[in-house]
Amino acid sequence: MNSTYVIRPAVESDVLGLESLDKHSNPHPWGRTLVADALEVRLNWVMCEAQNPNTIVAWLTASRCVDQSELELVLVDSNVRRQGIAKQLVQHWLDSLNKQGVAEFLLEVRESNLAAIYLYEALGFELVGRRKQYYQTETGRESACLYTLVSPVGRG
Ligand SMILES: CC(C)(COP(=O)(O)OP(=O)(O)OC[C@H]1O[C@@H](n2cnc3c(N)ncnc32)[C@H](O)[C@@H]1OP(=O)(O)O)[C@@H](O)C(=O)NCCC(=O)NCCS
Repeated sequence: MNSTYVIRPAVESDVLGLESLDKHSNPHPWGRTLVADALEVRLNWVMCEAQNPNTIVAWLTASRCVDQSELELVLVDSNVRRQGIAKQLVQHWLDSLNKQGVAEFLLEVRESNLAAIYLYEALGFELVGRRKQYYQTETGRESACLYTLVSPVGRG
């Protein structure tokens, strides 16, 4: 891992840092209420500066139900993209939950979001379906691509 940054679980007091990350780097910002809700009810990890744990450069939030987990958002500060940060964070989610018995990982992504699609495919996710016209865009609607990764329990 890049030694400038470390991964840690998010805590409630990260809400302002995550709200700022969401506001400045998320092309479809969630806003404070959804960020706070995610911190309260989901699993959350952040990538932060090793020397300053309050400086957050990336966030991953996911839900879990028994042996399945669904990625809700992975978001990297637009100033530090293409350094492998999202890949490390998503791999951390997979490894952490797989050790706890999660075997199936799910996500959906806008079909226009090629950066995310390339990221997920590089990590082994497979396209299993589409929800047509699922997302609103500035000019109309676009489909959601549904991806899964099934992994033997206890991997990593
Ligand atoms: C998608 C996103 C999380 C990627 O973060 P990142 O830290 O820049 O990604 P990484 O550096 O870990 O990239 C890993 C791999 O993903 C693919 N990838 C990432 N960004 C890419 C881009 N802009 N174009 C093409 N491929 C890309 C590449 O295969 C890359 O490997 P490489 O750099 O060795 O070629 C980031 O662009 C982002 O935060 N986007 C806005 C939020 C979002 O759309 N999240 C996903 C939907 S939930």
